[in-house]
Amino acid sequence: MVKYRILMVCLGNICRSPLAHGILQNKLPQEQYFIDSAGTSGYHNGEKPDPRSIEVALKYGIDISNQKSRKFNVTDFDYFDKIYVMDKSNLSNVLALARNSEDKAKVELILDSINSENQEVPDPYFGGNEGFNHVFKLLNNACEIIKSNLENIT
Ligand code: 4NP
Repeated sequence: MVKYRILMVCLGNICRSPLAHGILQNKLPQEQYFIDSAGTSGYHNGEKPDPRSIEVALKYGIDISNQKSRKFNVTDFDYFDKIYVMDKSNLSNVLALARNSEDKAKVELILDSINSENQEVPDPYFGGNEGFNHVFKLLNNACEIIKSNLENIT
């Protein structure tokens, strides 16, 4: 039975949040945890993740090639228990859609999980492969902590 649902959010839902989605999904039993991702823009609706994200995930044994980009929707606040955003711009875009304090309380910068308050996952879209590698490592560290925290709260 699914007991907790987590949504990863970035701008395009093709670079950072698909990686966060795949990494956390890979660490948790799927019967108990539902993980998804979305973008605050609809720029890449229906597209697969960026080939550079697919490649870096595969390097670490994770296949994200079947994911499809979609836009964040206000009903996501109802469905998900927790919403992790990659940067402060994602944070303000998602919080702007929150309807009440309960919605707001679900939203957090993902790197706050690793005790680095207000740190952002940099957008690797306009850079090279090295940026994607760096993003993978940041997200993998954060997801490791998220996983161990989940074991305490769920
Ligand atoms: P993401 O990266 O938010 O990590 O998916 C981006 C992808 C596409 C664009 C910007 C950021 N774009 O402007 O198309």
